[in-house]
Amino acid sequence: MIIAIDGPAASGKGTIARRLAAHFGLPHLDTGLLYRAVGAKALADHVNFEDEAALAALAALAGALNLAALDPEALKSGAVGEAASRVAALPQVRAKLLTVQQDFARQPGGAVLDGRDIGTVIAPEAEVKIFVTASPQARAARRHAELAARGEGVTPEEVLADILKRDERDSGRASAPLIRAGDAEILDTTTLNIDESWQAALALVARRRAS
Ligand code: C5P
Repeated sequence: MIIAIDGPAASGKGTIARRLAAHFGLPHLDTGLLYRAVGAKALADHVNFEDEAALAALAALAGALNLAALDPEALKSGAVGEAASRVAALPQVRAKLLTVQQDFARQPGGAVLDGRDIGTVIAPEAEVKIFVTASPQARAARRHAELAARGEGVTPEEVLADILKRDERDSGRASAPLIRAGDAEILDTTTLNIDESWQAALALVARRRAS
């Protein structure tokens, strides 16, 4: 069984995906980490997004990423998230990351993947697709709490502005934009806590499998 979880930043999709994977004994891939790894490299190298040679080098790096070596903790900062959304708009980077994600999705027994284009591009054949969403204000409050816990000194207003900018970039890009697959179930977590979101997701999976 392939379970595709898509949605905007801080919608709760990562936690839901992790818990579904543990519940069904399936491997899980947080595909945002791939873009974050490329974004971190772009940040470290001060990549000029107008420089074609530099972008080709970034795409080559994307093609050589080792899933097992990705360190979520090192890639979770707000600055890396912002850089990730910039590199994620580059078709050459997305093309290089396609195969590794599709191979992961199609492994025997299935998998859970979360991201922005899993149900639409990476695994359109997924048996279960959930589009997790929440209001920008609710997502900003969660992300702010997360960043504050990491010691990042950002204001709630800055986090909301960043979330809105990322939403616009992720939804407006030409290459694999963030969009709900026509056959995805919508799960709005605005008023739900983590446990309620997870229970709702589990109920959606059960309904999908029964139909
Ligand atoms: O989910 P996360 O916030 O870690 O993702 C970072 C960025 O990576 C997103 O803002 C998005 O631009 C990009 N991304 C993507 N496609 C995916 C996963 C992430 O474009 N499947």
